[in-house]
Amino acid sequence: MKNILTAPFVEEMKKVTANMYRLGWDERNGGNISYMLDANEVAEYLDFDKVIRTIDTGFNADKLIGKIFIVTGSGKYFKNVQEDPEANLGIIRIAEDGITAELLWGYREGGRPTSELPAHLMSHMARLSVDPENRVVMHTHPTHTLAMNYVHELDEKKFTHTLWEMCTECIVVFPDGVGVLPWMLCGTNEIGEATAKKMEEFRFVIWGMHGIYGAGKDMDETFGLIETVEKAAQIYMLTAHLPRINTIKDSEMVELAEYFGVNYRKDFLNL
Ligand code: 13P
Ligand code: ZN
Repeated sequence: MKNILTAPFVEEMKKVTANMYRLGWDERNGGNISYMLDANEVAEYLDFDKVIRTIDTGFNADKLIGKIFIVTGSGKYFKNVQEDPEANLGIIRIAEDGITAELLWGYREGGRPTSELPAHLMSHMARLSVDPENRVVMHTHPTHTLAMNYVHELDEKKFTHTLWEMCTECIVVFPDGVGVLPWMLCGTNEIGEATAKKMEEFRFVIWGMHGIYGAGKDMDETFGLIETVEKAAQIYMLTAHLPRINTIKDSEMVELAEYFGVNYRKDFLNL
């Protein structure tokens, strides 16, 4: 068996959590990541017959039975993942009953998966139903996107439109727009179900006055989506209080979307 600490997927988790921490998005234990792994790859590092312990998730993830995920631990700090992955991350497999997670590695010292596991696994199920290549779900508290929640209407069309206006790349990177949920109690199955419903339509979902969820086929794509939205929100926050004398017009957004061949939300433009 190879040493799990050298596995590429552990390396990816270390790198992305460190990046997100340095960007200031994941203060304290803020944020969580789940990454669906290829069982054949994991088998090079772990014995699937050795379940360390089982964890009751409190919800049914029957479409993910047998699937393996590496997930950040609840209450763990992104800041600390790099130096001690085994205490701050865990590898779980969804058991035959759909509601139990079998711990195969990590969460040393009695840890457990993120309190946002319902939103993560329900989002995986939702994304996989529309995009079989989806592997990553990230939750984070990006500063400018969050700031924008306080000064911009929390309306999907209006929020998306404002973001699209802020950087030329936006409509190309997230042509599906951003989904928006109002403030809701986090860590619950209810917010998980609401997030998953949005994830059928959007790869990026705002949790009002809390943070965001992003999904994608790999770490780069998911992280790239989040940083693009965050950059647009930053431009908005830097300019919202100033007189606006230039903008990207809707006709120009159409030009961009058509040139790059993306399937964009036409109903989010004012044509
Ligand atoms: P966890 O520490 O349980 O992952 O929670 C962090 C968070 O961001 C809650 O929304
Ligand atoms: Zn959070």
